[in-house]
Amino acid sequence: MGDDAATIEDYYHEGRTFAPSAEFVASAVVNDPAIYEQAEADFEGFWADQARSLVSWEEPFHTTLEWDLPYAKWFVGGKLNVSYNCLDRHVEAGLGDRVAYYFEGEPGDTQTITYSELLSEVSRFANALKRLGVNSGDRVCIYMPMIPRTVIAMLACARIGAVHSVIFGGFSPDSIADRINDAAAVVVITADGGYRRGVPLMLKPNVDEALKSTNTVRSVVVADRCGGNVDMQSGRDHWWDELVSAESDDCPPVFVDSEHLLFLLYTSGTTASPKGIMHTTGGYLTQVAWTYRAVFDLRAESDVYWCAADVGWVTGHSYIVYGPLCNGATSVIYEGTPDTPREQDRSGDPGTWAKDRLWSIIERYGVTQLYTAPTAIRTFMKWGETWPDAHDLSSLRLLGTVGEPINPEAWMWYHEHIGAQRCPIVDTWWQTETGGQMLTPLPGITVTKPGSVCAALPGIGVELVDDDGNVVTEGGGYLTLTTPWPGMLRGIWGDPQRYEDTYWSRYEGRYFAGDGAKIDSDGYLWILGRTDDVMNVSGHRISTSEVESALVDHEAVVEAAVVGAIDETTGQAIVGYVILRGDVESSDALRGEIRAHVSKKLGAIARPRVVIVVPDLPKTRSGKIMRRLLRDVVEGRELGDTTTLADEDVVDEIRDRAESDDSDDE
Ligand code: WT7
Repeated sequence: MGDDAATIEDYYHEGRTFAPSAEFVASAVVNDPAIYEQAEADFEGFWADQARSLVSWEEPFHTTLEWDLPYAKWFVGGKLNVSYNCLDRHVEAGLGDRVAYYFEGEPGDTQTITYSELLSEVSRFANALKRLGVNSGDRVCIYMPMIPRTVIAMLACARIGAVHSVIFGGFSPDSIADRINDAAAVVVITADGGYRRGVPLMLKPNVDEALKSTNTVRSVVVADRCGGNVDMQSGRDHWWDELVSAESDDCPPVFVDSEHLLFLLYTSGTTASPKGIMHTTGGYLTQVAWTYRAVFDLRAESDVYWCAADVGWVTGHSYIVYGPLCNGATSVIYEGTPDTPREQDRSGDPGTWAKDRLWSIIERYGVTQLYTAPTAIRTFMKWGETWPDAHDLSSLRLLGTVGEPINPEAWMWYHEHIGAQRCPIVDTWWQTETGGQMLTPLPGITVTKPGSVCAALPGIGVELVDDDGNVVTEGGGYLTLTTPWPGMLRGIWGDPQRYEDTYWSRYEGRYFAGDGAKIDSDGYLWILGRTDDVMNVSGHRISTSEVESALVDHEAVVEAAVVGAIDETTGQAIVGYVILRGDVESSDALRGEIRAHVSKKLGAIARPRVVIVVPDLPKTRSGKIMRRLLRDVVEGRELGDTTTLADEDVVDEIRDRAESDDSDDE
């Protein structure tokens, strides 16, 4: 912590540690700490070993890595097919009857899909795509709800070498059109709609609207999920079931080069225009296969794994589809929200929304690993532990989180109320751009600290640096990656300059991830959030995530978002937005107490000038807090771009609260 304000300062100190139990270590997939040194001595050799042991190659690669900074080619000369790796080879090995997915729709419909069933559905749909004229290398957009046909569509593209671009089902017609146009997609795969909080949320009308401003799409395939009551344009639109009914379930996989484009995934994050992140075949599959197996400690014969993310995000691509299937795992897919359906009260009237769908799914399917986001965990905290307590969660043996920093208090709640103090927690840091997990504990080795991502995985090079690029060995800095990794993005579709500028220009020879982080005296890594969000208070650079953790540490607070607002004396002043626990009333005294609590945890420099109690926070559709909008509100500006905001009403409510709480706190 220092006098030069070059880096981000660190204030939060967390003393608790959690070692995996001896039983967990004894049977863990990875439990020898020597793996770290071995991989560090030869990271290329480490990844080559994983590529050979976890992936089947039609032709073996001759060169592990060609690195022409910032362009990497992994497993050069190798040929493979991702859908063959995810399906055929398991069936050939006699595992055709193993369950690939247990699907549960929001209305309660269920479907169990084995590996051999998945293979024949994928093959039939791949044949249908070929009949529609889709060739290897063509781009196909997928705009679907969370149903098995979404996974089938992705794998069918991979089977014939076509490139999928999944567009999250919450996006608007404009966002769909932008993505179709940028990729020049030839086919769109969609559904009439999907179920969301008890009602069908229509998707096909958004595609129709989007297609008015595109001219590359020849065909639209529509899955019937909600009764099929949508307009169909003859010649262009085809019902999924009719299309595949004539197709054979034999479709030989197209073996492609290791560096063949597998998918595009557009990331907009909290700022700027979307970028088509490019992921290729051999390296991506290797990294997701190894990380899935090692980080989730997979026992494919007996585990039932559940990633509660949406397949529209990279988490779904890597850890609902490709990582699990490549390993022959059994997973759960759930379509809807965690607070559906309504609870019936005794008179049979629909009561309030039940808030235990997740826990009921875990109990009914015997889920062994749960992977979800901190924003979801804080929501469950807010709802209270009576919901999970009512279910038998004893099948769980490992918990994971991803997407944002997890506050130590949320980590502890997850550990105690979901993991019954028994399950290791893997807090996994990675990005759309990294393709797979990068910084995370290994559950059979790492002694975890609540809120810390702990360390880089074997084979991954990470260093923190200060503004001038000097390596920081203790304290805050900027998170950089120092060596190429197999799942790394290969570029931004159509814009190599933007790729170089965005990720490789700030520090020579290093990938800069955009995140701040700190390294503690034990060498543990803590993510401090996006550097765009770092606040500057009287020359001290303070991370939003540390102040948020201190706010959530107060017993009345369940969720917090912190921003720096322009302040005449201090440059920026800290403004804390908080959501209170269900039964707590806001008062001047309580807000003062919460501010004082932050001083106590972090020091007076980090005390918020004002704490504003709000019913909700503005989030992107992937659950990231949009601090930019909170800054606009507190500085009294017109709101900037709100197109990625999940719920527009939230900001109006916050504006009202900001006006009242701000005046009486000063
Ligand atoms: C950004 C990437 C990774 C898949 C989902 C998000 C933040 C991600 C963590 C974590 C703290 C995290 C970072 C990162 N982030 N995981 N475990 N702890 N922050 O993918 O939308 O590309 O976002 O999410 O800020 O840069 P994404």
